[in-house]
Amino acid sequence: MANKQVLVYKGFERFWHWMQAAFIMFLAFTGFEIHGAYSFLGFENAVRYHNITAYMLIGLVIFAIFWHLTTGEYRQYLPTFKNIMAQLDFYLFGIFRNAPHPTKKTLLSKLNPLQRLTYFFLKIVLIPATILSGLVYLFYRYPSRNAIDAINIGSLKPVAIVHTAGAILLVTFLVGHLYLITTGTTVTSNLKAMLTGYEELEEEEVVEKDGEKP
Ligand code: HEM
Repeated sequence: MANKQVLVYKGFERFWHWMQAAFIMFLAFTGFEIHGAYSFLGFENAVRYHNITAYMLIGLVIFAIFWHLTTGEYRQYLPTFKNIMAQLDFYLFGIFRNAPHPTKKTLLSKLNPLQRLTYFFLKIVLIPATILSGLVYLFYRYPSRNAIDAINIGSLKPVAIVHTAGAILLVTFLVGHLYLITTGTTVTSNLKAMLTGYEELEEEEVVEKDGEKP
């Protein structure tokens, strides 16, 4: 079957992906300094930059939610358990034997079942939990300086635990993500696609997107 270069990731999608990656890495970097893991920017600067970047991430997330809903691209993340074992088997064994990818990447289904599940969890649970706990942390400390009576929070401890656990899981995801980037059709094809937008897909799938029958 002939292959064709296809625009898989649109401009906004790439902008959002890379900005989100940069913000999360910087938030982790400043956050773990606030946590006391090391000293680089100084505690006060780390807090200041952490707060500024947090607001920037929230702004980006609002735009991204709007984009996903209006373009219908959110459907790419709806989880499915179909072929999930085949995908897991590929990552654990097949990949080391040069086996073919068990699921095909198409414009209408860019993510394999494991990616769908992981990104769904990331978007619906992990990122919201980290942002919400961060906001509670922020407004607990600054405007009231002691407690948020409205939501009956008397101690920062559970908030700090959720926020720090969220941060650790996000960093864990990032490490796994860096490895999985290299597992596309070629070692660099996934990275190239997210940089340029284009990836080589089988022609059949291009036709599918255009709505024409082969
Ligand atoms: C976007 C929403 C976020 C907000 C509003 C936010 C806000 C905050 C605030 C107010 C603090 C406490 C600062 C202080 O003690 O003065 C904090 C700490 C921290 N943040 Fe965030 N943050 C956000 C996202 C993130 C992300 C995405 C990460 C990591 C990937 C992260 C990692 C951390 C860590 C590790 C700490 C130290 C926690 C502790 O030791 O208790 N934050 N954050």
